[in-house]
Amino acid sequence: MPVTIRPLTPVFAGEVSGVDCAEPLGADEVAAVEAGMDKYAVLVFRGQDLSDEQQIAFTQHFGELEAYKTAGHIRKNVDARVGPGIADFSNLDKDGNIIEVEDRVWSFKLGDRLWHSDSSFRPVPAKYSLLSGRVIPSWGANTEFADMRAAYDALDARAKAEVEDLVCLHSLIYSREAIGFIELTDDERTAFHPVRQRLVRTHPVTGRRSLFLASHAGAIEGWTIPEARMFLRDLTEHATQREFVYSHEWRVGDLVMWDNRQTMHRARRFDDRNEVRDVRRTTLAGDAATIEQVSEHQGLTVEAR
Ligand SMILES: [Fe+2]
Repeated sequence: MPVTIRPLTPVFAGEVSGVDCAEPLGADEVAAVEAGMDKYAVLVFRGQDLSDEQQIAFTQHFGELEAYKTAGHIRKNVDARVGPGIADFSNLDKDGNIIEVEDRVWSFKLGDRLWHSDSSFRPVPAKYSLLSGRVIPSWGANTEFADMRAAYDALDARAKAEVEDLVCLHSLIYSREAIGFIELTDDERTAFHPVRQRLVRTHPVTGRRSLFLASHAGAIEGWTIPEARMFLRDLTEHATQREFVYSHEWRVGDLVMWDNRQTMHRARRFDDRNEVRDVRRTTLAGDAATIEQVSEHQGLTVEAR
């Protein structure tokens, strides 16, 4: 069956037909999905009833799984509900009960409701993320995506020149501070040490430029913190205007795949005290640090491979 993609918005996001994510893909199918990701940046696969192993195997068609020793620090003393290679983004504890609202693991997870790009707080941020919907609540819990290429394109010339060479500092400390989660252990502060990321990225295949924003960004090199925070807030408002956003309404069996290099996303509210949301994420490692990209002003633009 040929792979076809139906656009979900005028600017990005597509719904894929003709792919069974539970089965090994042929080279043509992998190429079609990759081309779809380059073009749409977010792809939706409906009706995919996947085990964790099948989701991991599907993900590995597109690169290497992200693996960091520091992953899971906040819950390092908590038994995981899922095995290695896949991450639990549910509101459940290891026994399958809804996490208590007072639990710091829950407070930490709430930070995912701010706009972000996965792993932008790591030296080499993630390529794709793939989230599968296993149990979906009856109300809310959409995932919203913003097309950061369209956001970049819509900047005026003055703003484009201003952002061109800026380097931001990203850390989980900044995004959690934004929701009042400030009680971190010394180990966590060490693990969340800020990393440098360029504010403008160039896609390694298409050459399209995009804004690399996230709630994890809390400083701009050479700027005062208040100046940086206000500018980043303004840019985020600009980038998340409705015309640049796709809001995914989940159904059980959805697999949603997004390119963190070209999009931001956020989770939306649901009745997390009374309903279960079980979604699981696999993540692909990025190719290179954004900081290795050389500005067009300085010569060639290269984001390694
Ligand atoms: Fe995320």
